[in-house]
Amino acid sequence: MEKSPTKQQCVPVLDFGSQYAQLIARRVREAGVYSVLVRPDISATELAALSPIGIILSGGPASVYEGHAPRCDPAVFQVGVPVLGICYGMQIGAELLGGTVAPAKAREYGAAKLHLLPEGAETGGFLGGVPEQTTVWMSHGDQVQSLGADFIPLASTPTCPLAAIRHRNRPFFGVQFHPEVTHTPHGAQIIENFLYRICRAAGDWQMGNFVDAAVEKIRVQVGHNRVILGLSGGVDSSVAAALLHKAIGNQLACIFVDNGLLRQNERNTVESMFRDHFHMNLRTVDASAEFLGALRGVTEPQKKRTIIGKLFVEAFRGAAKSIPDAKFLAQGTLYPDVIESGHGHAGTAANIKLHHNVGGLPRELGFELVEPLRDLFKDEVRRLGEVLGLPESLIWRHPFPGPGLAVRCIGEITEEKLTVLRQADEIFLEELIAANLYRSAAQTFAVILPVASVAVMGDGRSYQPVVALRSVDSTDFMTADWSRLPYDVLARVSSRIVNEVRGVSRVVYDITSKPPGTIEWE
Ligand code: XMP
Repeated sequence: MEKSPTKQQCVPVLDFGSQYAQLIARRVREAGVYSVLVRPDISATELAALSPIGIILSGGPASVYEGHAPRCDPAVFQVGVPVLGICYGMQIGAELLGGTVAPAKAREYGAAKLHLLPEGAETGGFLGGVPEQTTVWMSHGDQVQSLGADFIPLASTPTCPLAAIRHRNRPFFGVQFHPEVTHTPHGAQIIENFLYRICRAAGDWQMGNFVDAAVEKIRVQVGHNRVILGLSGGVDSSVAAALLHKAIGNQLACIFVDNGLLRQNERNTVESMFRDHFHMNLRTVDASAEFLGALRGVTEPQKKRTIIGKLFVEAFRGAAKSIPDAKFLAQGTLYPDVIESGHGHAGTAANIKLHHNVGGLPRELGFELVEPLRDLFKDEVRRLGEVLGLPESLIWRHPFPGPGLAVRCIGEITEEKLTVLRQADEIFLEELIAANLYRSAAQTFAVILPVASVAVMGDGRSYQPVVALRSVDSTDFMTADWSRLPYDVLARVSSRIVNEVRGVSRVVYDITSKPPGTIEWE
């Protein structure tokens, strides 16, 4: 169970398995109040120990009338703080307080028109500031059907008469829709109303408090033991490293594996930042010869991934052995990684995306895990990185896949092709940064193709490889569109690559969206 690491005001969210549960916690944090997910069956005593100022019951995919449906301790209403139930959370709360829940006539999914009833339209109340007619996002199969006289309906939609309710005597509020998603335009207002009008929050939480709380939690978890962390140079592992270093200093040992598939100057950048600037205990394992040797002649993308994944674990394991007293392994796992692997609190969140995360470490390594970023979303991790003093160039770094340049060197991987690819890639990134477009793109890189094309240079014709440029805009990397880069930027990149990089005949720009195309070429 998560503990409130300091005595700051907290609004825990009981996670009934909704894919939006963590989003609720995040919205609460955005509104300036600390929030964290807790198990749905947490006891009222454990909840009270968090000193909450309010409690939120999340949505979830189950039906409250089913035998196996996750339930909460009925005594949550005795903790003595306001409770907000969202979707399934509203149904659970209503049922515990005497209402009945049944399947709706039809499953409702998508936008609905919410109409405030006279009690809901009260200014200064739970729905204060919400227009009388507004759009809300629904996703439910069940509805609260009837409520005792103890409840007051606050709002309805054409198909859901009890879309928002409150209890007459107890501080319980329920909404059948999802105020946490952006498709509910006044959702943030409703959450703020709950926090500030109902729970009387002070609103003094910010990312700096998270650092203090996380530092304390890490210290409690690891004691005087050593912790190792696989540093990739990406945002997540770097922020995790900075946070752990702040918490436990040289008890942290970072391991950086040079697999020979890194971008131009990548190893130097990581080493100089973490070793020279942050004075962290960093060990680089140069395993490039092993990786490139094992990849010789391999052209099949998944085979490349398997080889790289296996060698990475071996290289990491070898380096970890040289730190014999290490007991913990720290990882920069973020909330979306947790939800993707189906390891949410209720264990019920749908497995939304099968992640092919090569470059990860197996659980069998025998370490206890330290995952201080588990509750955060990417943009929160970036803010945390800022608070920890990481440079902007690192905080806004585009993601780079675990198998590195191997999946951007189509077909067989050779040193020559990697050299060309690194130079072309560096030029593309340099020009993007110079044009102030790096931040707006989600991922930008060059790919070298196993296709030779003709070029006439000087007096001779030469046949040399084609370089493809890929830049995509995306928020979640599950869908993406190709970046509409200005022609003059593309022109500069192309002209610099063919002029400055030996061994490129032609440059093309990839204009495929995802789906159907993936972001990487392999
Ligand atoms: P795709 O190519 O599937 O990529 O559209 C989506 C995101 O995942 C990254 N990616 C990987 N990351 N190991 C990783 O750690 C991999 O094998 C891998 N393949 C793709 C890709 O760079 C993009 O950000």
